[in-house]
Amino acid sequence: MAGPLRLGVNIDHVATVRNARGGGLPDPVRAALLAAQAGADGITAHLREDRRHITDADIARLSAELAIPLNLEMAATDEMLAIALRHRPHAACIVPEKREERTTEGGIDAAGQHDRLAPMVRELGAANIRVSLFIEPDPRQIAAAVALGAPVVELHTGRYAELDGEARTAELRRLADAAALAAKNGIEVHAGHGLTFDNVMPVAAIPQVRELNIGHFLIGEAIFTGLEDSVRRMKASMDEAR
Ligand code: PXP
Repeated sequence: MAGPLRLGVNIDHVATVRNARGGGLPDPVRAALLAAQAGADGITAHLREDRRHITDADIARLSAELAIPLNLEMAATDEMLAIALRHRPHAACIVPEKREERTTEGGIDAAGQHDRLAPMVRELGAANIRVSLFIEPDPRQIAAAVALGAPVVELHTGRYAELDGEARTAELRRLADAAALAAKNGIEVHAGHGLTFDNVMPVAAIPQVRELNIGHFLIGEAIFTGLEDSVRRMKASMDEAR
């Protein structure tokens, strides 16, 4: 039997709705506290360069008010490194970021960006922040994460979520193989992007995966059934898959 699987709830899109109108409502910190009550094991928030959803003030409040771990998603920039070092979240997930994208498209090229990432992984680690690299399920990227000394990788499940039929099965195999390879090299494995009630179980069943980070679907579902309900149901599906 696979061990426990944590759920990190990404609250970015509560801030997206707030920012559509300006002002303070709905409050992403309230969503984070409610998600924690409903069984979330951690909260994830992406402070994007353009601050389109989460703001610096949100990160400050989340750092002060959360009793469960905060995972800060960040681009590999000096500005974000300084912010992470100031707030010292439990974890920092380094993601690629393009201003024109709607969401994080593809993983970071850990192999191609070794020299840029190495000092960042080192500095975050020295500050006791658990660093993860958001990568495609590709053996080259796992090897690069090993070379960087990253303690965690988060495997991008976006392609898996978009595909159907045999192509989805093949992508799931890639995820499972990458998870096994990373774990064999002593790296903790997380996964996320595009996960829903319908597609989460096969990913949750990969035994080396220790954490899933899920946002857009949970916040969307919360419109219909409430956030506590959507978080509880996701946790139940994850538990059932283990
Ligand atoms: N993990 C990472 C690294 C991400 O960038 C995102 C999207 O912000 C997610 C997980 C969550 O993806 P989704 O919102 O599609 O559930």
